[in-house]
Amino acid sequence: MHNPQLNKHGELQHLLTLDGLPKAILSQILDIAAPFTEVAEREVKKLPLLRGKSVFNLFFENSTRTRTTFEIAAKRLSADVINLNVSTSSTAKGETLLDTVDNLCAMQADMFVVRHASSGAPYLIAEHLQRTGRDHIHVVNAGDGRHAHPTQGLLDMYTIRHYKQDFTKLTVAVVGDVLHSRVARSEIAALTTLGVPEIRVIGPKTLLPTDIDRMGVHVFHDMREGLKGVDVVMMLRLQNERMNGALLPSSQEYFKFYGLTQDKLALAKPDAIVLHPGPMNRGVEIDSAVADGGNAVILPQVTFGIAVRMAVMSMLAGS
Ligand code: CP
Repeated sequence: MHNPQLNKHGELQHLLTLDGLPKAILSQILDIAAPFTEVAEREVKKLPLLRGKSVFNLFFENSTRTRTTFEIAAKRLSADVINLNVSTSSTAKGETLLDTVDNLCAMQADMFVVRHASSGAPYLIAEHLQRTGRDHIHVVNAGDGRHAHPTQGLLDMYTIRHYKQDFTKLTVAVVGDVLHSRVARSEIAALTTLGVPEIRVIGPKTLLPTDIDRMGVHVFHDMREGLKGVDVVMMLRLQNERMNGALLPSSQEYFKFYGLTQDKLALAKPDAIVLHPGPMNRGVEIDSAVADGGNAVILPQVTFGIAVRMAVMSMLAGS
């Protein structure tokens, strides 16, 4: 089956999803990111791999970490970075997404980094570029609706590999609002591809997809049961902006059953690491004592995100 994110040589053309991305490419991204951590941590200032290239950040949805770390990553690769301010752009006057893209292509764009509330928006742009013979322009999905957030999934894998080395010996729990979470979908796809033998999903029935059984995971509705003996706890944000109607009695009730507290974390292995993609709802999905505690690797995730985004962009368009 044709994979729209690979070119005819099987190389990365766009990064749209981790679902179906070959293991070799996934591992290659993590390997390429490793030396870039020196740039992310500013031990090395800049590299010339994207010199003369223009990267357009198109964020149609709010972002702190993803937009900023893409900008930092592109600048440290010496690219020119243009952040389209969507609220003051002609999108607000009714211009279509593809008309906006065509106009930015006329400004000699080399790469679009796209976040959009609609699942599939980055695919639409990638297909449009392919159909119109502009194969030299690359698209990176920075989060589309409930569908995928591939660079978040990759930076999470980088973080796990950094602290735990071997994926094939791990038990990993993904906790919370899987139903609305593009992060969860990308994480589960990557953990599966990288050979994690036990992936657990923990959450209330109302916040899990109905086809969860087909995802190759073990489902737990009791958080204490699900956390027993795990190596990695991947917390998810409650995606209130994507919920239609009342799926939860209250945030206090949610915290009681599914909030990560120190006493629940004590059921995991003593050296378990805790990840969260941010932004965190403290006191709802995670207690501050855990978020700021010794098992949390939430801020290193952000720094690794720069290195991983440098790796993706340099694989797509680097010289
Ligand atoms: N993790 C994540 O996507 O965060 P932002 O929404 O701040 O980009």
